[in-house]
Amino acid sequence: MKLWSLKIGAKTCTFLSLFQYSVSLSNQSKSYHHSAAKEISFQSRRSAIASIFLGTSTAALLKPADEATASTSIEDIKKIYDEGASSYENLYSDSLVSRALDFTTLRKDLLSKADGDVLELGVGTGLNLPYYPNGVTSYVGVDISVNMQKQAEARFRESNDSISTVSSSLSQLYKEDKVDFKIGDVNNLSSLFSSPSVKFDTIVDTFGLCVFPEPVKALSSAREMLRPGGKLLLLEHQDSVIGKALSPSRKIADVANTCRYDDDVLQLLREAGFRSVESKNVAGGFLTKIVASP
Ligand SMILES: C[S@@+](CC[C@H](N)C(=O)[O-])C[C@H]1O[C@@H](n2cnc3c(N)ncnc32)[C@H](O)[C@@H]1O
Repeated sequence: MKLWSLKIGAKTCTFLSLFQYSVSLSNQSKSYHHSAAKEISFQSRRSAIASIFLGTSTAALLKPADEATASTSIEDIKKIYDEGASSYENLYSDSLVSRALDFTTLRKDLLSKADGDVLELGVGTGLNLPYYPNGVTSYVGVDISVNMQKQAEARFRESNDSISTVSSSLSQLYKEDKVDFKIGDVNNLSSLFSSPSVKFDTIVDTFGLCVFPEPVKALSSAREMLRPGGKLLLLEHQDSVIGKALSPSRKIADVANTCRYDDDVLQLLREAGFRSVESKNVAGGFLTKIVASP
């Protein structure tokens, strides 16, 4: 695989070497179809590899690759995330992939730019909540999946002096009743608020855009919710060599399979009316970190 020659950093190379091993196992599956015994043996080896990549409980969700289908409808997405919610963090937080690509530092770095009244799109289980800084004055999280968002809300009840499941700044806002969660579709954000005058200084989205079935519509809806001078913060998958190489691995779990790795995020932002866009490739170009405003 020519990817070996790319200078994309030691961590990413480590990840790719493991990925290459898993791809080579996937290729072996073709020769195992004729034998049930060998198929079981392949499944258990694939589960073992999945455990390394994803952690044990996500690996338990493992299905044969041809049963994991890319999904685009919002109803399907809601169902997949409701069903996968309990294992989501194994994939996006605890897995070797997210550690190798240092998702935590990338989240922290992005969130350090948040201030004022904040709206987070596709908040999921609240993996960003520990990193919101002082300077945030209120927080609203939106998600289509009840089971994902329940976990985000639970973080506020669980956070204490010894376990910080949300940042001290958000914890204080929660006590002041300035934290809210809404179940709804990011395509129609204004409908989630009682008054059209509700606007935000910062809108955040991490790993959501690649899942939203209509990303331009979602971004346009977000743009309409920004105050003048407000900003959109994104950490997202984008079209990249690594994304192309990793694309088959999305089939390892249904939640991962909802995610597109080949979006042209800058083009999506242009189409949604964002004129000022600062972007930086991170994780060897697999992800992009963006600060944008209309
Ligand atoms: C890959 S997860 C990202 C979660 C979180 N932002 C993170 O960084 O871990 C995508 C989230 O977007 C939510 N989602 C997908 N489509 C949505 C939509 N149209 N409206 C609201 N939420 C949506 C899913 O339910 C899921 O929680």
